[in-house]
Amino acid sequence: SNSSTTVDEKLYAICELLEANITYYNWVGFYFKNGDKNELKLGPYVGEPTDHTIIPFGKGICGQVAVSNQNFVVPDVSAQDNYIACSITVKAEIVIPIFVNGENIGQIDIDSNTPDSFTEADERFLEFVCKQVAEIL
Ligand code: SME
Repeated sequence: SNSSTTVDEKLYAICELLEANITYYNWVGFYFKNGDKNELKLGPYVGEPTDHTIIPFGKGICGQVAVSNQNFVVPDVSAQDNYIACSITVKAEIVIPIFVNGENIGQIDIDSNTPDSFTEADERFLEFVCKQVAEIL
């Protein structure tokens, strides 16, 4: 790897690769814990710009994963009561936490315009991606 490439450039490249190659991955981004605050901060992403650059712990799918430390697969976002809508085109969402030394330090968040598009294969694949990401942070 090229040490002149920054972490954010690498994370952005991962977003681009995923969005470009997996047809039902329509928004791909990273959120990270914001210092010692009880909130997530948006990192590199590909897709429509979002107003939700800061998400308090517990709020929305992302904020829930920040406190649960568990994968969250949403087949139908309209059925979720604790959900933050970024785009009206989004039908399904998957959020996978990133662990460094056992600590949940952030997550990959993917939105799909196709209902019920995320499978256990996506979970296993994205867990692998998150493990690789943890190694470059
Ligand atoms: N839908 C997310 C907010 C982030 S956007 O999907 C980019 C949520 O409910 O936490």
